[in-house]
Amino acid sequence: MSPQIAFLGAGNMATAMINGLLASGFSPSQLRASDPSEAALSRLQSLGLSQLNTSPQHIFIDADLVVVAVKPQVAPEALAAIRDQIGPNTAILSIAAGIPIASLQAAVDPTVPVIRCMPNTPAMIGKGASGLFATAQASDAHRALAEQVTNAVGMTMWVPSEALLDAVTAVSGSGPAYFFALIESIIAAGVDLGLDQQTAVALTLQTAIGAAELAGRSELPISTLRENVTSPGGTTEQALLALQSHQFDEIITHAVQACAERARTLGEEFG
Ligand SMILES: NC(=O)c1ccc[n+]([C@@H]2O[C@H](COP(=O)([O-])OP(=O)(O)OC[C@H]3O[C@@H](n4cnc5c(N)ncnc54)[C@H](OP(=O)(O)O)[C@@H]3O)[C@@H](O)[C@H]2O)c1
Repeated sequence: MSPQIAFLGAGNMATAMINGLLASGFSPSQLRASDPSEAALSRLQSLGLSQLNTSPQHIFIDADLVVVAVKPQVAPEALAAIRDQIGPNTAILSIAAGIPIASLQAAVDPTVPVIRCMPNTPAMIGKGASGLFATAQASDAHRALAEQVTNAVGMTMWVPSEALLDAVTAVSGSGPAYFFALIESIIAAGVDLGLDQQTAVALTLQTAIGAAELAGRSELPISTLRENVTSPGGTTEQALLALQSHQFDEIITHAVQACAERARTLGEEFG
């Protein structure tokens, strides 16, 4: 029988995932959602979904996967409200940032298979990067179904421990913000050098996209790609020397470590 996926929360992330699943061949009859917001549900209705409810009643019964897509602070409580609907074949996929698996299992049943996911915001345009960790109770079928959900909005990498999701948060979960900050700085520097704003934005964005795609497609290591554009005595070399003289590597390392540490302490607070 075709798998059934039920979304607890039908906000931005759930809608992006549902759009992606429909585009990847899922039928609307395989997808369900519960959300107190009529507006959120009517958005899904317009995509063809019919198993929708402002109250969670019945929506999660016999689902193969329940996707927890509510804000982190309400996740355990929202999950506890549907505990009677979680059957023996149901797994939970939680995208609620920072909520530990133990808190999710405590809300339902400690034996329920849980897959925890750290997505990122480019999922909204199908270019997300998700890190996933599954408990030992999750079957291969549960893992494959969870991966279909995250692959529907981008790409998926599995990590071997829940603790490593803090590293995923630090690299890709919060990562878009680092790139936005870098893009903003380069645009501002370009404008300082005399470019108009529109030109600086267009050149910077296309350079970011081009560099990422080149790095993704090339068989060469990224360091080689960097060296290839860095002629001795040339212009790029001066820029990279300036970055290093201001401890570029140390700044990035410190930022990523600070993010991971905050993810760890938030997990403790939520736990
Ligand atoms: N790492 C990242 O960059 C990243 C990016 C996006 C999302 N996330 C995670 O994804 C999750 C969802 O985020 P989002 O941006 O999609 O949030 P969102 O747009 O606010 O969606 C959450 C939805 O859940 C609804 N809701 C509240 N209580 C509920 C309940 N008891 N049962 C069912 N639905 C309920 C909300 O309704 P009301 O608005 O009426 O309360 C809202 O429609 C969050 O936990 C977040 O941590 C992570």
